[in-house]
Amino acid sequence: MSHADEHAGSGEGTRRDFLYYATAGAGVVATGAAVWPLVNQMNPSADVQALASIRVDVSAVEVGTQLTVKYLGKPVFIRRRTPEEIEAARATALEELPDPLSENPNKPDTDASDANRTLDEAGEWLVMVGVCTHLGCVPIGDGAGDFGGWFCPCHGSHYDSAGRIRRGPAPRNLPIPVAMFEDETTIKLG
Ligand code: FES
Repeated sequence: MSHADEHAGSGEGTRRDFLYYATAGAGVVATGAAVWPLVNQMNPSADVQALASIRVDVSAVEVGTQLTVKYLGKPVFIRRRTPEEIEAARATALEELPDPLSENPNKPDTDASDANRTLDEAGEWLVMVGVCTHLGCVPIGDGAGDFGGWFCPCHGSHYDSAGRIRRGPAPRNLPIPVAMFEDETTIKLG
C-alpha cells in the first residue's frame, strides 16, 4: 500500500467513526433512556462536540422553575433555583454526599460542594443532564424526593437541590454538561 493509500484509508476511518457516533445517537432516541450510560462513554471528538453546540434563551425562566431542553439527544435541565434551594444545598456537609465529585467538566477535578455544581457564582443557575446515573431514567424535578431536588421513580433515587445523589441505587451525581453563560440571558451548551 502506498503512502497515499494509507492516508486515504485513515480518512475513511475517521468518516466511519463519525457515522458510527451519529447512528448510535439516533439509536438512543429510538430505543429509550436505558442506553444513555453506554452512549455517555463514547466521548465524541471535539469537532463533533463543536458542531453540536446550542444556545438557550433563559430570559423567561422564573425563579423556582425549570426549563428542559434536548441536547445531544438527552434532556438537559436548566433550573433557576430559589434562595431556599441554594441555602439547603450549600448547608449540606460534603461527608453526607455518596458521590464526592462535582461531575462538572466546567470545573474539572473538583469536589461536590454546591458552588462547584452551579453555572453562576450566586448559585442560582443549575444545568444538568437529566438522566439518572443508575439505569438512565429521567428524574422528576421541582423539589421532588426527600432532599428537595429530583426523584427517579424507576428504582427510587433521591437527588438534592444541587442534583447530587443522596439516597437510592444511583452511584453518581447528575452529570453537568459543558456549559457557560454567553450573555446575561443566553446559556451555551457544548
Ligand atoms: S434508573 Fe433511576 S433509580 Fe434506577
